[in-house]
Amino acid sequence: MTTINTIGVLGAGQMGAGIAQVAAQSGYAVKLADATVELAAKAKGKLEATLGKLVEKGKLSAADKDAALARITPVGSIQDLADCDLSVEAVTEKVELKLELFRKLDGAAKPGAILASNTSSISITKIAAVTSRPELVIGMHFMNPVPVMKLVEVIRALQTSDATYAATIELAAKMNKTVVTAKDAPGFIVNRILIPLLNEACFALQEGIGTAKDIDEGVKLGLNHPMGPLELADLIGLDTVLAIAEVLHRDLGDDKYRAANVLRKHVEAGWLGRKTGRGFYRYENGQRVG
Ligand code: CAA
Repeated sequence: MTTINTIGVLGAGQMGAGIAQVAAQSGYAVKLADATVELAAKAKGKLEATLGKLVEKGKLSAADKDAALARITPVGSIQDLADCDLSVEAVTEKVELKLELFRKLDGAAKPGAILASNTSSISITKIAAVTSRPELVIGMHFMNPVPVMKLVEVIRALQTSDATYAATIELAAKMNKTVVTAKDAPGFIVNRILIPLLNEACFALQEGIGTAKDIDEGVKLGLNHPMGPLELADLIGLDTVLAIAEVLHRDLGDDKYRAANVLRKHVEAGWLGRKTGRGFYRYENGQRVG
């Protein structure tokens, strides 16, 4: 079974940075890669601020913060992930992009290295098939925000070996996460259930059944969810929610999964949620202001 000491993270957005944080805090050496080393370094800078807040709150010692940050090396090329024992891809939810990056990752990674995808909905079997090591490819789906959420959904491609599966389960446990195993079906378990919920909230908004605030308050207080569906969609990113809805619609072939027009229009407008300062709500410096 692959021994994992060094973890590569491809994509330094909110998910990739969260995975890098948890891996580094769990004692792993991490290479955090993005299109340029500057982008990866910027993400590390944000992590420094996040860990600094945890130190201020007394939830992390300054020494542990420094040690975690020292374990993260920002890099600007897939080639820099060559010596990683396992790399997790966490780029935008676009199938062609993921397939292209997996081909490159497969070319760069050392023999025996595991290649995991944090995809929320795309077929792991399809991703595995573009590599020369399909038995070493697996889905490792973290939840957002990664450091706070306990779950990792592990998805076996048709080709994934038992050894790859076992090494991934062991890694997730060392990262202090609880694993559920899902079949390689569109949306796996969590998004098969979550995305129709968020999309239905969009339909409710579009049909004028309630305001965004009333829809969210209704679900929060009426169903005891920590966040309303529209603010959760803003947190995930409306482009990601739409991309997953489109995978469910296309791959399950059922119109009940069609994306609400209001969701599509927000994405077309570039109102992608928290990350762009506007989604169903408005945000300044990551805080909701309207
Ligand atoms: N590292 C470590 N701890 C962190 C942290 C970080 N980066 N960021 C926040 N925390 C800690 C905070 O210190 C805080 O701890 P205490 O309660 O001990 O003080 C705790 O996490 C909660 O943080 P906040 O007080 O800032 O926020 P909150 O209490 O309002 O909770 C929330 C925020 C955790 C996001 C909560 O609203 C929630 O659980 N929402 C639902 C999130 C959810 O459903 N995520 C899944 C999305 S689906 C997905 O990800 C799959 C997909 O593919 C789309």
